[in-house]
Amino acid sequence: MGTPLRIAIDGPAASGKSTLAQRLAAHLGYTYIDTGVMYRAVTWAALRRGISPEDAEALTHLAESLDLDIQRPTVADGRPYTVIVEGEDVTWELRRPEVDAAVSQVSAHPGVRQALSQRQRQLGLRGRVVMVGRDIGTVVLPEADLKIYLDADLETRARRRYQELRERGQAVSFEEVLEAMRQRDALDQGREVAPLRPAPDAVVLDTTALDIEEVFQKVVALIEARCREG
Ligand code: DC
Repeated sequence: MGTPLRIAIDGPAASGKSTLAQRLAAHLGYTYIDTGVMYRAVTWAALRRGISPEDAEALTHLAESLDLDIQRPTVADGRPYTVIVEGEDVTWELRRPEVDAAVSQVSAHPGVRQALSQRQRQLGLRGRVVMVGRDIGTVVLPEADLKIYLDADLETRARRRYQELRERGQAVSFEEVLEAMRQRDALDQGREVAPLRPAPDAVVLDTTALDIEEVFQKVVALIEARCREG
């Protein structure tokens, strides 16, 4: 195999997926695609319209029709991309605790998943992508050339997310973040369609005791080894 053209990175919230994917994409000159953003955008639009996270039909319709665009960032505020929903820049809105609290429920509906994974697959098939999510290696791009599954223990991930939120000025307690993450894990892993789990051919990396540089170096070494296997 040559350099992987499609890299799939899956794992639970705050396992370090996005940071790793952004660094890898920059290193390889590939496009970084964060699929969680699409589930967040549908959730955000549903909350704004008063659609219940239980209303499968309305949510499916929203996922199929939502005017959503992910663009290169033009604002230098630490964002990796700009998300435009119906003409409005919602990049940071998508990170609000209300969206966090509802997104797993919204993304458990089969109709929502089907609509969004189709959009994601089309993007992924273009190649030279690092695609991040929960079901990329298992459902969206099962033929990906390299699949990484990042994990870390719950406390470590909650601490990372807590620090991120505090840095962005959000007033949350560690206990709230921990509990919200516990609930999100249970929903993401327990749903019937495309539950969060490693693909059989994924390389599983536990990042509990690793910093981002160490994770990045491990994955770069893996890519180089695969290239040599050629
Ligand atoms: O990666 P994230 O925290 O931004 O993802 C938000 C939610 O979206 C996550 O709780 C589950 C869902 N999701 C999913 O079901 N499948 C994906 N490929 C990506 C995200």
